Amino acid sequence: MSTLEELRAKCETCQKCALGKTRNHLVFGVGNERARLMFVGEAPGEQEDLTGTPFVGRAGQLLDKFLYAVGIERSDVYIANILKCRPPQNRDPLPEEEDACIGYLREQVRIIQPKIIVCLGRISAMRLIKPDFKITAEHGKWFQKGDFLITAVFHPAALLRDPRKKEDMLEDMKRIAAKLNEEGEFQ
Ligand code: URA
Repeated sequence: MSTLEELRAKCETCQKCALGKTRNHLVFGVGNERARLMFVGEAPGEQEDLTGTPFVGRAGQLLDKFLYAVGIERSDVYIANILKCRPPQNRDPLPEEEDACIGYLREQVRIIQPKIIVCLGRISAMRLIKPDFKITAEHGKWFQKGDFLITAVFHPAALLRDPRKKEDMLEDMKRIAAKLNEEGEFQ
């Protein structure tokens, strides 16, 4: 099995889809390589493409606030995206882009072996939980997949557009923090 650094090196030269030509930076993922909790967003935005780090723009800053509110350190978790390169104008990922990129995320999960994966938003949930996932009805629900538990919360960018969703997000994040503590007891 490769290490995260070996995998990152492979991604750096990836040209499996057209986004390889337009990216400024690969946005591989960041955080604790032995994290028990992993967040998976959709795709890098402008700030992420400029810096090479996921969730550093406005949506990322809002995510940081929720992590802080429930006592989770950003440095304890691992954060990645379904796509590692920015789609132009932040459009939704195309199926062929997801297909080209998803193997890298699978490899990251295999290496990190998180206990809990949290999908940030519907695009991630539809890819990682089930194709017909409905974020409004099913956020906060738990699914068992192989060795890990998986759930989805609203994407932080959706909370910026509709702040009324923030209450639900806080409740979901509290339950995630509680589940992480429960899981820790059985390690
Ligand atoms: N939105 C995402 O889904 N991922 C990022 O890294 C930034 C914004």
